[in-house]
Amino acid sequence: MTTYSPDQLEKLINKYPRVRLTCLPTPLYRLENLSGELGLREMMVKRDDLTGLAFGGNKSRKLEFVLADALSQGADTIITWGSLQSNWCLQTAAAARRCGLKSILVLFKTYELSTPDQGNILIEKLLGAELRLVETETGGKSPDQEQAFRLLEEVASGERKNGRNPYLVSVGGSMTGGNMGKPLGALAYLMEMIEIARQTAGSGEPDYVIVATGSGGTQAGLVVGAKALGLSTRIVGICVSDRKEDFLPRVKKIAGELVETLGLRINIDDRDIILFDDYLGQGYGRVTPEISKIISTVLQKEALVLDPVYTGKAMIGLLDLSQKGYFSASDRIVFVHTGGTPALFAFADQLLS
Ligand SMILES: Cc1ncc(COP(=O)(O)O)c(C=O)c1O
Repeated sequence: MTTYSPDQLEKLINKYPRVRLTCLPTPLYRLENLSGELGLREMMVKRDDLTGLAFGGNKSRKLEFVLADALSQGADTIITWGSLQSNWCLQTAAAARRCGLKSILVLFKTYELSTPDQGNILIEKLLGAELRLVETETGGKSPDQEQAFRLLEEVASGERKNGRNPYLVSVGGSMTGGNMGKPLGALAYLMEMIEIARQTAGSGEPDYVIVATGSGGTQAGLVVGAKALGLSTRIVGICVSDRKEDFLPRVKKIAGELVETLGLRINIDDRDIILFDDYLGQGYGRVTPEISKIISTVLQKEALVLDPVYTGKAMIGLLDLSQKGYFSASDRIVFVHTGGTPALFAFADQLLS
């Protein structure tokens, strides 16, 4: 097992083309009120909701590599999928616009919303993205990667007939497939771990990083980053949609692909991938009273706006783990705010009911 310095890792990452879409580094600071209330020495927030691309979020970091890859393949159109209020899809449409590309978003109606043109969809429409809304036949679950790519291929063949060159990429830019041959989303989150390590160099590495896990690339990149840097930081993923036994192989696969892509001499095993699935609530994209409450509490205590689908659940997880004594009082904890705030407006009815 080898450990790498931030500079060594950056050298490996810099071999991959990247377009600048973000304002980095994002701020990292102590949440004074919540730290005090939870009796924790340091509970910090990493503000990846402030990455700077159309409302920001974790996907802007990933898209710097994904868009560069698409441009290097001569693509003029990005085609991807997500759920109705997918943050990934909005970020993809925004990144595509910045790079002069068209985007086609296949949005699966995995839940019902009373205000369909709110939140991410509103901004996607203003961006001029092409939206294809698709009913799901799977009781609110998104189709698997294979089914989704089949649908994307149908859309892509229509585009090719019109002389366009589409680039197909999976939801969240996490799993390889379509035109993305390398785990570029996770690569971006390895970079984030370097950023966190540099920001905490003076005060000591974090004991825990807490993140919402959806398509897995964010957690995978952070896990590889912490291991490669030789940090003892544990990365905790709070599942937002599926059980941990479904997520573990996915996160492990992405992490393994990243290790192989960069030729790192490290091993990622099951113990490195810490997941909690106790906070799924009523399922993906379903707003519960607990979610409304946490959004309101964190807003009132820290003036920090969480989202109802990802960061709200991750914060419920963090607070519950803290109350159950999972952390010790001396632990330094970093909560990654991965964005998603525009979705808040689309879920207004549920949040206020
Ligand atoms: C706001 C937000 N947070 C967290 C995640 C999870 O990131 P990942 O898909 O890389 O697991 C997503 C997307 O899925 C997201 O939109």
